[in-house]
Amino acid sequence: MHADIDRILISRERIAERVGQLARWIVADHAALGDGAEITIVPILTGAMIFCGDLIRQMPIAMKIGLMTVSSYPGATVASQGAQVIQRQLANVKDRHILVIDDILDSGNTMRLVVPTLRDLGASSVRTCVLLKKDRPAAREVAIDYVGFEIPDEFVVGYGLDYNDYYRNLPDIVTLHRRVLESRA
Ligand code: IMP
Ligand code: MG
Repeated sequence: MHADIDRILISRERIAERVGQLARWIVADHAALGDGAEITIVPILTGAMIFCGDLIRQMPIAMKIGLMTVSSYPGATVASQGAQVIQRQLANVKDRHILVIDDILDSGNTMRLVVPTLRDLGASSVRTCVLLKKDRPAAREVAIDYVGFEIPDEFVVGYGLDYNDYYRNLPDIVTLHRRVLESRA
C-alpha cells in the first residue's frame, strides 16, 4: 500500500494538532449557545468516520450522534457525480443544534444537499465542519463554519478518504501515483 503513495500532503501529526484546535474552537462556540443547548453531531459517511471519531473524543460536551450516508464519488471516480443521500439514521433532530462533519469540501454538492435537509427536519441551527477544503471555485462558494486545512485541487486519500473504497485506513492524507488510480479502477 505504501508503494502506492505519491506524496504525503498532511502528516498524521499535523492532522492531530489541527483536530485538537478544531475541537476547542467548536466547544467554545457551543458554550456561547447557553445552558441546555443540545448538540447532534452528523458525520457524513463513510469518509468522515475517522475524522469525526478523533474530533468528538476531544469535545467534552453532551452530544448525540446521527448518521447520514451520502454518495457522490461512486466506485473508481475522481470527480463528483452529484450527491445522493443513500441512508439516514438521524433520530430526532428537531430543535437541536446540528454539527455536520465531512472529510472534504470539493464541489460542495454534499453540503448543499445535507444542510437544507437538516433545516427542513426542524434543527435549531446547522453548522458545518470539514477537515479539508479544496482550492477550487465551487468550494469557495459554500460557506463552512469550521475548516481544518485548505488544500490544492488534487485527489487525496487517507484518514477516511478513499479511492474506490480503498486507502481509508492510511493515517496521513496523501496523493496516489497515477498508475494506481488506473489499476484500482
Ligand atoms: P462534494 O460533494 O463534491 O463537496 O464532495 C464531498 C465528498 O466527495 C466527500 O465527502 C468525499 O467523500 C468525496 N471527495 C471529494 N474529493 C475527494 C478526494 O480528493 N478524495 C477522496 N474523496 C473525495
Ligand atoms: Mg464522503
